Formats: sequence, structure tokens, C-alpha cells
Amino acid sequence: MNALVHAHSGLRYVVLALLIAAIGIAYSNWQKNETSDSKVYSWALISCHIQLLIGLILYVMSPKVDFSMIGDKLYRFYTVEHILMMIIAIALITIGRVRSRKVEAGAKHRTILYFYAMGLILILVSIPWPFRNLGAGWF
Ligand code: HEM
Repeated sequence: MNALVHAHSGLRYVVLALLIAAIGIAYSNWQKNETSDSKVYSWALISCHIQLLIGLILYVMSPKVDFSMIGDKLYRFYTVEHILMMIIAIALITIGRVRSRKVEAGAKHRTILYFYAMGLILILVSIPWPFRNLGAGWF
């Protein structure tokens, strides 16, 4: 359980780095009218799905997930807010990736840019950063 929390906590930086890289590449490819795909788009998606999988296991195991304690800020965060926002964010990123494969070549990178940027913003505001006093650290 402890190892899983650390894996989930550390993986946030991989997810953030890959999303930022994918967004940067998408912007540059869009400006250059590039028609080929980038593997980074898929790596970012895969990192989100791994995080989702670990998150679901933690959701079942974590003592911080408890509906009877929903009146408390910390429990409400992990029981409702964190999972809900992260699932919406990862759904947006998944939809963006699937759409980017279907749209015409000219719209591919713009689609990634918009959907991944929306997902990234939601993820950034839903991470229990230490300064939010939600009992979580930097790693
Ligand atoms: C990209 C998506 C996600 C990121 C970046 C993320 C990040 C984090 C971070 C940084 C923590 C704090 C860990 C610590 O205590 O040091 C955490 C905790 C937690 N996350 Fe996520 N998370 C994501 C998605 C999810 C999802 C989708 C779920 C549920 C399905 C989930 C469930 C949990 C739970 C239950 C905890 C509390 C674990 C505990 O300390 O007992 N996470 N998450």
C-alpha cells in the first residue's frame, strides 16, 4: 500500500512532463503544418492510464477514502474531488488522442493541443500539492 502511494505520487511528475512535452510538440507541429504523428502523444496517454489504474487500486485500499467522513476536507478530497476530476481529465486526454487519429491530418496536432491542455489544467488543480494541506508530500 505504502509503495503504491509512492509510485502514484512519483508518477505524477512523469505524467506532467509527458503532457507538457506532448502539448509543446503539438503546438510546434501545428504551426509547421506537420502531418506525421508523434509517439509522445501516446506515451502521455499511457502514463495517464497507468496512473488511473494505480489510483483505482488505491481508491479501494486507502484509509483516506471513506464516505462516512465526507464532512472532513481531507476525506472529501480523496473520496470525491480527486477521483472525479482526474477521471474527467483522463477522459478528455483519451478522447483527444482518439479524435486526433480520426480527424484530417491538418487538425491532428490542434486536437491534441486543446484536449491535452484541458486535461493538464484539471490534473494540476486536482493534485494534492503539499501547500494544500491534504496530507500529501512532494514525492
Ligand atoms: C493523472 C492523474 C493523477 C495524479 C497526477 C494523481 C496524483 C496523486 C498524488 C500526488 C497523491 C498523493 C500521494 C501522497 O500521499 O504522497 C494522490 C493520492 C491518491 N490518489 Fe491520485 N492521482 C491521479 C489520479 C487518481 C485517480 C484516477 C484515482 C482514483 C481512481 C486516484 C486515487 C488516489 C487516492 C485514493 C489517493 C490517496 C492515497 C493515500 O494516501 O491513501 N488518483 N494522487
